[in-house]
Amino acid sequence: MTRTPEDRPEFRLFGRAQGKPLSARQQGLVDGLLPRIALPETGPVDPARLLPDSSAHVLEIGFGGGEHLAAQAARHPDTGYIGIEPFLNGVAKALTYVEEAALDNVRLWRGDAREILPRFADASLDRIFLLFPDPWHKKRHAKRRFVQHATRDAFARILKPRGQLRIATDVKSYADHCMIELSGDERFDWPAAKADDWRIPPADHITTRYEQKGLGDCAPVFMDFVRV
Ligand SMILES: C[S@@+](CC[C@H](N)C(=O)[O-])C[C@H]1O[C@@H](n2cnc3c(N)ncnc32)[C@H](O)[C@@H]1O
Repeated sequence: MTRTPEDRPEFRLFGRAQGKPLSARQQGLVDGLLPRIALPETGPVDPARLLPDSSAHVLEIGFGGGEHLAAQAARHPDTGYIGIEPFLNGVAKALTYVEEAALDNVRLWRGDAREILPRFADASLDRIFLLFPDPWHKKRHAKRRFVQHATRDAFARILKPRGQLRIATDVKSYADHCMIELSGDERFDWPAAKADDWRIPPADHITTRYEQKGLGDCAPVFMDFVRV
């Protein structure tokens, strides 16, 4: 039986795991399609084995409603995409995109990325997206931010050499937090040379409805770190 984030007291999720009830169609996709494209419940997660026909493997953490994940997967059918998201309604939305566009290069996991990252094989990903992670503005909530020592170490371990980690945020203190966590880490390079390198959305970026809401306190910042 599939375990849900609510079953895992060892990982306290700080956001919502479910919102309004799913439509009948969404429930059908969660029951039928999700088990077919889900990551394995236990054991190692090796993207190359899960998506053997893909020439590159990309992970998106906290994909929200899956707009970015599905659009990237549709644009790059030769690349395999793995999306992780604990919010059931977001997973259900992503499943509708996967079904409508018949995306066979997507695998999903409903759960907390902090729990499953340790199961990923070493140097198994070409790219990781962490786009507009929950900001946790208050200082006393800073420990809830996804970017922490442990996740930084996991990124370093699971990215291939020259693999890319893209973090985007529109919260100034989160951007500062990421720079402190990652720019001083010799395992990562930040090749930005001028302000436009992080101020202008990268050419391959796909804007989501969440980003469009502009809920942060600064213009979006895009940080493309490279695994050395
Ligand atoms: C602010 S939303 C942004 C959604 C999406 N990335 C976008 O840009 O539209 C942050 C997302 O991260 C997810 N999230 C929060 N904690 C997470 C965790 N530990 N592992 C994976 N996803 C997480 C939330 O459920 C939410 O969907």
